[in-house]
Amino acid sequence: MEITSIGALADNAGSAVILKGWLTNKRVSKGLLFLVLRDGSGIVQCIVNQRDVSSDSWQAASQATQESALEVAGTVVVDARQTGGVELQAIHVSLIHLTRYYPITPKAHGIEFLMDRRHLWLRSRRQWAVMRVRNRVIMSIHEFFQERGFLQMDAPILTGNAVEGTSTLFEIDYFGQTAYLTQSGQLHGEAMAMAFGKIYTFGPTFRAEKSKTRRHLTEFWMVEPEMAFYDLDMNMELAEDFLIRLAADVVRDCRNELELLGRDIAALERVQKPFPRITYTEAVELLKSDRTMALLDARLKILLGERLSLERERADNKAAYGQAKEWKRRRMDARDIEINTRLDEIAEELRNIPAWRKSAREFEWGSDFGGSDETLLTWHFECPIIVHRYPAAVKAFYMERDPEDERLALGMDVLAHEGFGEIIGGGQRTDNLEFLEKQIAVHNLPREAFEWYLDLRRYGSVPHSGFGLGLERTVFWICGLDHVRESIPFPRMLGRIAP
Ligand code: 4AD
Ligand code: MG
Repeated sequence: MEITSIGALADNAGSAVILKGWLTNKRVSKGLLFLVLRDGSGIVQCIVNQRDVSSDSWQAASQATQESALEVAGTVVVDARQTGGVELQAIHVSLIHLTRYYPITPKAHGIEFLMDRRHLWLRSRRQWAVMRVRNRVIMSIHEFFQERGFLQMDAPILTGNAVEGTSTLFEIDYFGQTAYLTQSGQLHGEAMAMAFGKIYTFGPTFRAEKSKTRRHLTEFWMVEPEMAFYDLDMNMELAEDFLIRLAADVVRDCRNELELLGRDIAALERVQKPFPRITYTEAVELLKSDRTMALLDARLKILLGERLSLERERADNKAAYGQAKEWKRRRMDARDIEINTRLDEIAEELRNIPAWRKSAREFEWGSDFGGSDETLLTWHFECPIIVHRYPAAVKAFYMERDPEDERLALGMDVLAHEGFGEIIGGGQRTDNLEFLEKQIAVHNLPREAFEWYLDLRRYGSVPHSGFGLGLERTVFWICGLDHVRESIPFPRMLGRIAP
C-alpha cells in the first residue's frame, strides 16, 4: 500500500492506499464511524465498519477527537455525492496524536477569538480555500510576467527613503541612522527597469496605517512591475491584461475553493477586456450624480427586504424548535448563527449608508476618494474600472503631469467591482530632472536620500511607468471576503502583531 494524499485519491479509485491527516469531523452510527479527514490537499470521508477492522483500529477511530492526527489505510471508492468524488472504506486506523479540547469547535466563534487563534484557524475549510486561491494568484503573477519577458528583482526592505508619503512610515534605528521598512519597491524597481527594461518586484511592504478598515494591513505583499518606455496608456493596458489573467486562472483552477467560499463565480468571469476607463473628473461627476443616489436607494431597499425575510426565518425556526428532532435542531442552531451574523452586517451597512451618501454628494474635486466613494463608483459597473488622471496634489511626488492639464497627474487606480475598490495603484513617472527635484522639495522630502533616484533622470532618462498590485486586496476581492485580514496567513494590523 502506498502513502498518498487526499488530493490524489480520485486517481487511485479501487486501490488500497494509506492517508495521514487530521480529523475534522466525525459521525457515529451503529457499528459505523464516519471520519472526515483532511491533510491540506483535500478532505475525504473515511468509513470505518466495526466488522471490517481490528479492535485496535475500531478503538483508535472511536477515540479520535477533532484535530487528532490519524493514519488511515483503506480502499478508494468512487461516490459522486462526496466532496472530491471519492470516499475511503477503512481497513486500518491508527492514532498518531490524540488531541484534547481543540479550541475551535464547529460552532461559530467571534472574529477576535479566531484571530487570536489564527495559527489553528488556518486549518479550517474556509481558510484552506482562501490560502489555496492566494497560492494560485502568486503563481499566476510570476507566470504572467515571466511569459512577457519581465525580470523578477527583489527590492530592499530596509530603506532610507519614503515612497508613498511620510505619514505611514515605520521608522527603525539602523546603527544610529534613521531607516524605514519599505512602503513600496517602486523606486528601486525604476533603477532596475533602466538596467533591464521590464522588471517586477514582489515582496513585503509596510505601512503604519493607524486606522482600522477592512482594506488595510500594516504588512502586505505587493507586486510592482516597472517598464522603461511605457506611457500611461500602455501601463493601463498591462494592468488590465494582468487582472484578467489572475481572475481567469483562479476561476479555472480553484473552482472548488470558490464554491466553498460561496463566491459568485459569474462576477469573476465578467473580468474581461476592456475595463471602463474614466478620468478622475468624470468619476467625481458620477459619484455626486443622482445615479449614485439611486443606487444607494436601491441598495437600501434590498437590505431592508433581506432583513425582513431573515427575521421571519429566525422567528419560524424559533417556533418550530420545540418540536424538532435533535439533528434538525443542530441544523437550526447553525442557521441561527448564520442569520445573526448576516443581520449584524446588514445593520452595519444600514448605519453607514447615510454617511456614504453625504460623502458622495458633498465630494469636492481635488480630494482623494475614500473607501465608500470607491465602493459607490464600482457599483456603476459590471467589471473592474480604471480611474486615471487624479489631481497631482493627492498623488505621490514622482508622478508625471498631464501635458494637457498641469493640475493632473498621469496616475491610475484600478478599482475592483462589486464594491471592493482599489487593488492597483500606479502611473507614469516623471523623467524630468528639474521637475523631480522641485517635487522632492515641495513634498518636504530629504534631498540627500533621493540623490541616487535623481541619477536615474541624469543618465539616460526615459518615459517609464509601472504599478503596484496589493496581493491581499486581490485575494480579498477574488475570494469575496468581508475583510482583508483573512487573505494573508498571519495578518498584521493596528492592534495585532500575534500570532
Ligand atoms: O497605491 P499604492 O500606495 O501605490 C504604490 O505603492 C506605488 N508605489 C505602486 C507602484 O506604482 N509601483 O499601493 C499599491 C497597492 C494598492 O492599490 C493596494 O492594493 C495595496 O498596494 N495597498 C495595501 N494593501 C493592504 N493594506 C494596505 N495598507 C495597503 N496600501 C496599499
Ligand atoms: Mg493607491
